[in-house]
Formats: sequence, C-alpha cells, structure tokens
Amino acid sequence: MRTSASSARCSSVASSSTAVPIPTTRSPPRRSRCSWTGAGRSRARRATSPTSSSPAWNRHSSRRCASSCSPSPASWSRPTSSTPSAASRSTTCSTTTGRTATSVSTETPASPAPRPAPTGDLTGRVAFITGAAHGQGRAMALALAADGADIAAYDIAAKISYPAYAQGSSAELDSLRAEIEALGRRALVFAGDVRDAGAVGRAVDATVAELGGLDILVNNAGIVAYAAADEMSDAEWDAMIGINLTGPFLVGRAAIPHLKARGGGVIINNSSVMGLRGGNRLSHYVASKHGLTGLTKAWAIELAPFGIRVVSIHPTGVNTPMNDGLAAMEGATPQEIAERSAGNLLPGVPWIETDDVAELVRYLASDRARFATGAQFVLDAGLLTA
Ligand SMILES: NC(=O)c1ccc[n+]([C@@H]2O[C@H](COP(=O)([O-])OP(=O)(O)OC[C@H]3O[C@@H](n4cnc5c(N)ncnc54)[C@H](O)[C@@H]3O)[C@@H](O)[C@H]2O)c1
Repeated sequence: MRTSASSARCSSVASSSTAVPIPTTRSPPRRSRCSWTGAGRSRARRATSPTSSSPAWNRHSSRRCASSCSPSPASWSRPTSSTPSAASRSTTCSTTTGRTATSVSTETPASPAPRPAPTGDLTGRVAFITGAAHGQGRAMALALAADGADIAAYDIAAKISYPAYAQGSSAELDSLRAEIEALGRRALVFAGDVRDAGAVGRAVDATVAELGGLDILVNNAGIVAYAAADEMSDAEWDAMIGINLTGPFLVGRAAIPHLKARGGGVIINNSSVMGLRGGNRLSHYVASKHGLTGLTKAWAIELAPFGIRVVSIHPTGVNTPMNDGLAAMEGATPQEIAERSAGNLLPGVPWIETDDVAELVRYLASDRARFATGAQFVLDAGLLTA
C-alpha cells in the first residue's frame, strides 16, 4: 500500500545566508577502511517549541514518580507544560489513571541523571534520519546536531490512511530545521515516504550533494497498530511491513554506496523490544521489527569489510505521538496502553522519553562505539528481564 508523497520534496536546502560552508578538509579524519539500531496533549508542543537556554537535545522531559506517589504506572501523569528547571522540577502523580485525574505535585530529588555535555565528536559528519519530524527521530536529530553533525531529516510529513493517528508534518520539519540551524549545524528536510525508492534515492543523493557526504544513517521511521491475525487485512500487513522493514532496506540500499565512499560509517536501525519478543495482536509489527533485527545482523556482516557498523536499538514504550495514537485507536489512555504492553521492571516507569533513546543513538553514532556492530542495544527499563 502506498500513501501520498510519491516523491521526496526537499523543502529546504540550508540557505546561503545560514549555511555553514562545506569544510574542505573533514574533521575529525575518517578512520581507515577495514579498521573495523491520552492523545497527544504534550507532543506537538515539545516538537515545535524550544525551551529555555539549554540545548534542545538536552531538555529533560522525563518525570519519575517519587516513592511517595503510587508506584503503579497508572499513577503517572504525562508532562503537560513547559519543562521545569532541574532545581524546581516536580512530578505530577495523578490519583486516577485517567483523563480528569486529580493530581498532586511532589518535589523529586532527581530526575534522570544529567546527560553529558555535547562532545562535538560528530563534527564534520553527516546524518540521515528517517521519521525525524517528531517523536524519537526528532530527538535523535537534535542530539546528533548538538554533537556536531549536519542533519538530513526525512519524513512522510503527511496524513496516511493507516494507521489513523497523526504522523509528522511539514511544520514540524521546518521547526526542526530551525532548531538544528540554531545549534550551528546545517539541515536539510525532505518530505517523502520510506517506501518510495525513487524519493529516498533523490533525498540521499541531495544530502550528499549539499552536505558533502554521508556518515550516519538512522532508520527510525515506523508505524504501529493492533490487529488480530485473523482480522488483519492485506493492506494493514503490507503497510506495516512496507514502512517498518522494506523502508529501512530501501533507505539503506540508497545510503550504503555513500557510506562505502566515505570509508566507513554507521547504520542504526530503530527496532523495538518487539523485535526481540512477541506481542499480542501485534503480529505484523512484531514480524517487521524482528525482520529489522535480522537486517541489522545481515548488513553488519556484509558491511564490516567497508568499515560500516550496523546496530539495532530496542526501546520499550517511548513517550511519543505513536503511543498517543495507539492509545486513541484503542479507546484507551496512554497509561492504560503502557500498563497493558510495557511491564517495565523499573517501578514507576511506564515509558521512557525520547531523549533517553537519543542519548543511546548519539553514543552509537560516535567513534566511542567503534567496536559495536551486529549488536542489539536494549533500552527497556528492564522489560525483557521482568
Ligand atoms: N513509541 C514507542 O513506544 C516505540 C517503542 C519502541 C520502538 N519504537 C519505534 O521507534 C520508531 C520511532 O517511533 P516514534 O515513537 O517516534 O513514532 P512517531 O509516530 O512518534 O514518529 C514516527 C515518525 O515517522 C514518520 N513516518 C511514519 N511513516 C513514515 C513513512 N512511510 N515514511 C517516512 N516517515 C514516516 C512519521 O511522520 C513520524 O514523524 C518507530 O520505528 C517505532 O516502531 C517506538
């Protein structure tokens, strides 16, 4: 099944007034060849409005329930307003699971550990990220830009018929470009479908032409929906496999020659914990994510001789529009969805935040992870162990 966006539309090449000149010598030098993955109340705001003076990638949006609140995931309340400062951050723990919960604010001694300062160790690198308009892809784009990479963000940026929750938008791509440029990096944004090989190829080629090469590919775009196997339509199966598995293959196929030309690079595939286990009424999603795990292992073998590392990441539930959309389609709250599907080991953590995933990606994209290839990086708050 194909949906809209028959060709990639590069809505902005960094303008001559803002573009950082392409360096004549790349820094740091490349390693040599063969030397070596509720309903949307807070998302749109987070996706489009930078806050405070802290780097965008470094904004703490996680909240943990203090022990004085119920540790049940059902007691969580999602972030609803601008991010508080570290000093004054409070956790809102609702007394109900639901939509009109009465909440109490409790000072928490610490939110998630402070993230290290940007390293700059991606200076001179170029990253191509799919599904970057919002959610995890956006956080990854901002994190890699903060570490010095120039960014090409590719997203369908349009409504699709299946699944019926909101995907990214052109406005989000535009605001992402502005945020990346505010970090001093160059940014290209493309509206296109990962299932459209022609559009993908044109976007990858334009990235190389405009930004000087390609070093990092993050296959992040994906969809999710529930359906019993005996009630699933051909179109639903095809859409899930097409976006979550064929799409990463098509983007990788277009990118690999450029990574080889660079003498090395890294491909990070965003699978899921569902790429390592089963899930009820998720056969198409689980199959697509296991497929992506397999693609990771196969590519790691195939591309190691070219100095290209390939890894997959496997988050538990993440606080993104995807989870809101899934909840809305199920007629449930995000909290209820989290209770149903997460089962995280860490108490009071029904989901993790996009910055948590971005932190893993910035590590895997860097030479600090130079010996990581073919591997599955689980970020699941203990789900697979529970
Ligand atoms: N949210 C979770 O709980 C969770 C957990 C584990 C893994 N994942 C995976 O992480 C990835 C990102 O998920 P998210 O939570 O940020 O989702 P999201 O729905 O919030 O964002 C997905 C992005 O991908 C884009 N996209 C969708 N279909 C596309 C297509 N055909 N072509 C190009 N772009 C397309 C959307 O426009 C959107 O911007 C997905 O692959 C998902 O399966 C999500």
